[in-house]
Amino acid sequence: MTIRPLVILPDPLLRTVSDVVAHADGATKALIDDMFETMYDAPGVGLAAVQVGVTARIVTMDASRGDDEKQPLALINPEIIWSSDALNEYEEGCLSIPEFYGVVTRPTKVGVRFLDLDGKVLEREMDGLAATVIQHEIDHLNGKLFIDHLS
Ligand code: NI
Repeated sequence: MTIRPLVILPDPLLRTVSDVVAHADGATKALIDDMFETMYDAPGVGLAAVQVGVTARIVTMDASRGDDEKQPLALINPEIIWSSDALNEYEEGCLSIPEFYGVVTRPTKVGVRFLDLDGKVLEREMDGLAATVIQHEIDHLNGKLFIDHLS
């Protein structure tokens, strides 16, 4: 596993729409391993592949808190399939925008559909920090940044 260099604003890559992963292979697995290594090293709670320079729809995240057991989750081609009417405010930051934070309002709960490394379709309900993280990371896959949500 390798810590990869992070893409930092204003790199135009961060405004790129990432490509759907047609099918996961050994390179996808290696990329995901490196993304976890890079994310935990930063440290951060979520990372999109574009942030290490690969414009593929892949996200790694871990919304566990403090000394809790780690909960690494890799999502390929993730999409939001529903979101709650209830909204939540969370102070967000981004590994690609160092030392800048802002309060973003997003749905409190979302349903997420994605593929795992075996190509299996999974669905998961996320709330709290996990919901914020996955929405932030899917924005990255669409070339969107949390600062776009700030008024
Ligand atoms: Ni980010």
